[in-house]
Amino acid sequence: MNKLAVISHLLSNALLQSPHKQSGTGFAPTNIALCKYWGKRDAELNLPITSSLSIALPNKGSTTTLTLIDQSIDRVIFNGRERSSTSPFVERLVQYLDLFRRERAWHLQVDITMNIPVAAGFASSAAGFASLVIALNDLFDWHASRQTLSILARLGSGSAARSLWMGFVEWQAGADPCGMDSYGMPLEKSWPDLCVGLLSLNNQPKPISSRRAMQQTVASSVLYESWPKQVSRDLVLLKQAIQDKNFPLLGSIAENNALSMHATMLSSMPPICYFLPETLEAMHRIWKLRAEGLALYFTEDAGPNLKLLFLKSDIKRVQIHFPEMLLAADGSQADPAIDARG
Ligand code: PMV
Repeated sequence: MNKLAVISHLLSNALLQSPHKQSGTGFAPTNIALCKYWGKRDAELNLPITSSLSIALPNKGSTTTLTLIDQSIDRVIFNGRERSSTSPFVERLVQYLDLFRRERAWHLQVDITMNIPVAAGFASSAAGFASLVIALNDLFDWHASRQTLSILARLGSGSAARSLWMGFVEWQAGADPCGMDSYGMPLEKSWPDLCVGLLSLNNQPKPISSRRAMQQTVASSVLYESWPKQVSRDLVLLKQAIQDKNFPLLGSIAENNALSMHATMLSSMPPICYFLPETLEAMHRIWKLRAEGLALYFTEDAGPNLKLLFLKSDIKRVQIHFPEMLLAADGSQADPAIDARG
């Protein structure tokens, strides 16, 4: 099954004719995986080999507004600046919009505003595609469920499947070859004292995209064989940690999960290494601080930057050691479980 067939299966033809409104808008939060998604069983549909689990950053993410325009091409304005129609970013976005444009008679102005550092491994594509899907739902008046929107967002970027809810979200790998059972599910648990900080260490473009890096790892790393086993263990332990509000368990499993994912990349051929000297230096500082008694952990995605995990009671101590850290979830948000149920 290809993307078009999945969309036709989820939305009837009547819903895909043309937009019902002049404009549509949507916000989606960034999500940070505590148990990573690494490896696809279907590259076209972004179907994962394993399930994964994330936490949303409630006030960090992407807002997309779509407005019908009387022009022959789409216009994309990103953070207030119009982007060239030939840039890879716009091409990927327009390709995605084309999936919903059965007769290409209409075009859009796409305004995207993100309040997270972009392309720095802070999951901007997840929030971006999820907010785009929510905006499409508004524009077309689909009244689609969050589950359906999660599947649609996954077709844009795998991890976007988790950005449709606040709080903790598990993306179930599913078993259906068409992916109808592969979507996000909110965990009805909140943890207001849990904090996430973004540590921007180097913002140079990535040496290799996560899409290619995943393919290369699955195809060539002998260590990848152990990844599904690791994920099964980590999902159980992370859910246990969330249930019991056991922070050392959550932090140590999230950190170990991220390092194990990077180990599979290092052992792929040719090797993939997102660590930079700044990344390793920060890791060693975190381990030293932890040995000295500070409950501080990290996770890292497909980039050199780190996300710090700690409790609200330690905000000041963490800020002293990492003054440049951007506090993305400070535990003072509304109960995420309320949003998760909504
Ligand atoms: O959704 P993608 O293709 O950007 O892949 C995301 C992969 C990681 O960020 C490394 C892990 C994850 O689960 O978010």
